Amino acid sequence: MDFYRSTDHHRVQEGLEESLKKLDCEYIDLYLMHWPQAVLNDKVLCEDEHPTYADTWKQMEKLLDTGKVKSIGVSNFSIKTLEILLPQCTIIPAINQVEIHPCLPQFDLKEYCDSKGILLTAYSPFGQSNQLFFKDPDFIAIAECHEATVAQVAVSWAVQRGTVPIPKSANVERMKANITLIKLTPEEMQTINDIHKKPGMHRSLLGYHGPDGSVFGWTYEQLGWPMSVGGFVSAQ
Ligand SMILES: NC(=O)c1ccc[n+]([C@@H]2O[C@H](COP(=O)([O-])OP(=O)(O)OC[C@H]3O[C@@H](n4cnc5c(N)ncnc54)[C@H](OP(=O)(O)O)[C@@H]3O)[C@@H](O)[C@H]2O)c1
Repeated sequence: MDFYRSTDHHRVQEGLEESLKKLDCEYIDLYLMHWPQAVLNDKVLCEDEHPTYADTWKQMEKLLDTGKVKSIGVSNFSIKTLEILLPQCTIIPAINQVEIHPCLPQFDLKEYCDSKGILLTAYSPFGQSNQLFFKDPDFIAIAECHEATVAQVAVSWAVQRGTVPIPKSANVERMKANITLIKLTPEEMQTINDIHKKPGMHRSLLGYHGPDGSVFGWTYEQLGWPMSVGGFVSAQ
């Protein structure tokens, strides 16, 4: 699929074949629908225009029979969009991959996905290049206490709360360090859980938010994201 724009929602089988060719693989372990909004003829479709994300999901379900895909999941889905999708599913998504880090812990979504048996993958677990919580004194104190890096604290927190963080680094030493976990105490977990409650801290850290409060053509309301213009969310 196109990196940001979901241009293959109406041609799922063909999209998979193209991906397999590019990857030079016979099968893919986990195949995700990147965004709920489909792009057709250069136009972002509304929720009720076909293919809807439920239409696309039904095509993804068929891929499992081919053996070319071992499991399927979604990305950037909210409680709202999952509530619409799940009653139309034969197969429950294995994964929902969303932005999660201490500034956007997504407690409500985590509880919802847990109740449905959907594993949450935490993308941008460091906030990409906007690593706001890395500068938080409580966060730094926990890292110092464990003689660890702030990045290791972020990954350890994510794993310990039952999400799957996928940090990115182009630096081999950082890659090795980032997957070396530490054991956080319940008090430290709580301290990190509470960081988003500090003024100005509860927010998305990514740059894909339009000034009008839209992301790739859909409003926060269409996406079901509990945000307001500027990407801020109210404290949970
Ligand atoms: N499904 C989606 O819509 C979606 C959206 C966004 C991202 N993602 C995925 O999420 C994964 C990671 O997310 P991301 O790249 O957006 O953000 P990220 O992992 O939060 O941050 C990556 C940035 O952190 C830096 N970094 C890595 N290790 C560090 C360390 N120990 N200390 C300080 N900085 C460190 C990296 O720099 P160096 O490379 O120089 O180390 C890079 O600039 C990727 O696989 C991406 O494809 C998915």
